[in-house]
Order: sequence, then structure tokens, then C-alpha cells
Amino acid sequence: MLNGFEEAIVLTGDGHVAEGSAENLFMVRDGVLITPPVTDDILEGITRAGVIEIAAHLGIPVKERQIDRSELYMCDEVFLCGTGAQISPVASVDHRPVGDGRVGPIARQIGKTYFDAVRGKLPEFRHWVTPVYKGE
Ligand SMILES: Cc1ncc(COP(=O)(O)O)c(C=O)c1O
Repeated sequence: MLNGFEEAIVLTGDGHVAEGSAENLFMVRDGVLITPPVTDDILEGITRAGVIEIAAHLGIPVKERQIDRSELYMCDEVFLCGTGAQISPVASVDHRPVGDGRVGPIARQIGKTYFDAVRGKLPEFRHWVTPVYKGE
């Protein structure tokens, strides 16, 4: 994409962070997982709901609140999530590194749990998946 960017982050009409082009957005500040509220022009994704469920399971606090664009420059971690993107950590925003520019511990933990859950490996999330049996 233009100027080295790989994805767009969409803002609300009043300039708050809404989401990616086809993903919801999470940011980590001081150990708290923060995501824009459903009233901030987002598509309420099924993966977003899943991430919130995983965070509760892992004991990671979640806050749904408005996010300022400048917070993305100050926070510890950002990741996008969606059916297509799954859990996709963001290394930089506006050419500024997010945190130390590497995958952060919370995105890693959420991502690992997500990939195990969608493969039916975790009994706690078995209700997410439907077994498919080979016919005769
Ligand atoms: C604008 C937008 N936001 C978020 C999402 C993520 O939704 P889901 O997790 O249900 O795939 C999508 C998915 O297509 C989308 O188009």
C-alpha cells in the first residue's frame, strides 16, 4: 500500500479511533485491554466478542471506552481482530513503533488462546466450534 502502510485505521466523525478496514481494534495500556465502545461507529465483530471472552478467561481486565488517535502512539500494544485477520498484532502506527515494535505479551497470550480455541483444543471454548464428520 501507499507509503509503506499495510492497513487503515478508521476514525469516528469526531476523530476517535473506531476500527480497521475489516477488523476491530484493541489497545493495551498498563495491562488493561481497551477497545472502542459499540457506540463509536464500529462493526460489532464476532471476533471482538471472542477476544473479550478470552480476556475474561485469562483474567485480563477489559475496558470499552473511546480511544484518542494519540493514544496509539503512547500505548504498549495494539492488535486488530476479525474473521479474516484473526488476531493481528500491529507493529507501528503512522510510522511510529507501537511499544517496542514487537508482538506484546497480551497480544501473544490472546492470540495463542484464540488459535487453540478455534481449533477445538480448549474445553472452555468448545461451544465456539462445530465438529464436522466425514460422511460414509
Ligand atoms: C468494518 C469491519 N469491522 C470489523 C470486522 C470484524 O468482524 P468479525 O470479527 O465478525 O469478522 C469486519 C469483518 O468483516 C468488518 O468488515
